[in-house]
Amino acid sequence: MDGNTPELTQDTIGQPPGPCAMVIFGAGGDLTKRKLIPALYNLAKGKLLPEQFAIIGVSIEPYSTEDFRKRTTEDIKQFATGMVDMNSWDWFNQRLYYLSGDFGDAELYKKIEDMLGKVDVDQSTGGNCLFYLATSPTFFPVVVEQLGKAGLTKQDDGKWRRVVIEKPFGHDLPSAISLNKCVAKFLDETQVYRIDHYLGKETVQNILAFRFANGIFEPVWNRRYVDHVQVTVAEELGVELRGGYYEGAGALRDMVPNHILQLITLTAMEPPISFDAHAVHDEQTKVLRAIQPIAPEKVLERAVRGQYGEGTINGKHVPAYRAEPQVAPNSVTPTFVALCLHIDNWRWADVPFYLRTGKRLPSRATKIVIRFRRPPFVPFRNTSVDKIAPNELVISIQPDEGISLSFEAKIPGPVVRLGAVNMDFQYSDYFGSVPSTGYETLLYDCMMGDPTLFQRADMVEASWTAVQPILDVWKALPPRDFPNYPAGSWGPEAANELLRRDGREWRDSKAGHPPRPDGHSESPDPGAKTPPTTQPGKP
Ligand code: BG6
Repeated sequence: MDGNTPELTQDTIGQPPGPCAMVIFGAGGDLTKRKLIPALYNLAKGKLLPEQFAIIGVSIEPYSTEDFRKRTTEDIKQFATGMVDMNSWDWFNQRLYYLSGDFGDAELYKKIEDMLGKVDVDQSTGGNCLFYLATSPTFFPVVVEQLGKAGLTKQDDGKWRRVVIEKPFGHDLPSAISLNKCVAKFLDETQVYRIDHYLGKETVQNILAFRFANGIFEPVWNRRYVDHVQVTVAEELGVELRGGYYEGAGALRDMVPNHILQLITLTAMEPPISFDAHAVHDEQTKVLRAIQPIAPEKVLERAVRGQYGEGTINGKHVPAYRAEPQVAPNSVTPTFVALCLHIDNWRWADVPFYLRTGKRLPSRATKIVIRFRRPPFVPFRNTSVDKIAPNELVISIQPDEGISLSFEAKIPGPVVRLGAVNMDFQYSDYFGSVPSTGYETLLYDCMMGDPTLFQRADMVEASWTAVQPILDVWKALPPRDFPNYPAGSWGPEAANELLRRDGREWRDSKAGHPPRPDGHSESPDPGAKTPPTTQPGKP
């Protein structure tokens, strides 16, 4: 397989779904042009869309179908993940339609119904329809209610109607419950597809394959062998032009109850009885419910918040968060969070799960690190156990997708010296890199009716339940030290202290080896420069 770069095709995924139409609310927005259209086009190129297919874009902008086709043809040149092939683009473009209207206006939904009839005549889409809410979250309840009232969510004659909701699912526990209630009033839970785009990432899906398709890791995947787990989602970018949204969200809401807790559920869950969506969701939900609620008096100790000041990243000066567009000059919105969570079950009792995420950190890196316990005894002269680097399994989600396992090896030579080395698997070495937006599999699954990679209502509520105590305490006690980390650093000092208190430290998110107990820095090259862990001598 080495060196091959497969396309996303029927061979790599499967057969195209049956005839259907897709209605995108928010067709004039960023998500549509940057992700959804390029992803749908990639599916089209790979012959993974049905022949009988149409997209109806819906937005407030007063375009005609012709305008929409022209604009989309311009946008794809900028946002396609690979070469745009004119034949497949023409096929795709002829299936684009547009409707302008106000999402709260019942008239719009009559027009949608008529348009669904028209595309059925033009493209034989039948009655199946996927409604995608690529809108601001304030419109989620509005659109769901209008769809329901207009009868567009009814599934008559064996036809399916599904609604895709993009995160955020609420902004705290009460709002998530209320959104779920509204959705349940008009839709059956099986019609709802809650997208968390992290689950579209290959390496995230691979966590399950790695754990449950291999016999050797599961026996050590528990409190007997694992010392702790670290999850880092570091971003180099700042808040960019999303200050308006981000001011009300902050790092905790934006990243934790969704992306990071999804990573934690896949890492910590019990083996499901099958890969049926319910079986997987049940196990994920158990993990979420087992997250120990942080007592209010412990929140400031176990949850660290930070906000970036100005600084330098890759030699470039960048402004402070408070100087970004649409951000208040005295904003107390966190752009960094680090937490210590515990999962109260037999597998993970007393194993801390440390997580951190932030904007304007030194590099973009999403990693899960499983740090194993040190060996109980080391039979090398002059070497105490605490001089041995613990084994680490690092699952790199992005940008370098792969898995590596570090272990101690003898450095060649007449004296016994130990050094940490890595066994590395890089996705690109084996499978090439498939150009993708991350939405292809998710959109394909929605059309196929496979909800495994989507979030169930109870999962969303369990996730918010885990973070709600932190939101409450942080609201009651606003930070007094913001900004407390310079852009280009690894966050506030308190995030290091969070682990130091427990005698641990963060693994630097850049490439390299686990931090060494003897304080030496290491070369990724396991050869000559790796410092010894033992004193020279014979065993
Ligand atoms: C989004 C957040 O859900 O995920 C953004 O709203 C964040 O703030 C983004 O930047 C990160 O996604 P990715 O795929 O770039 O890691």
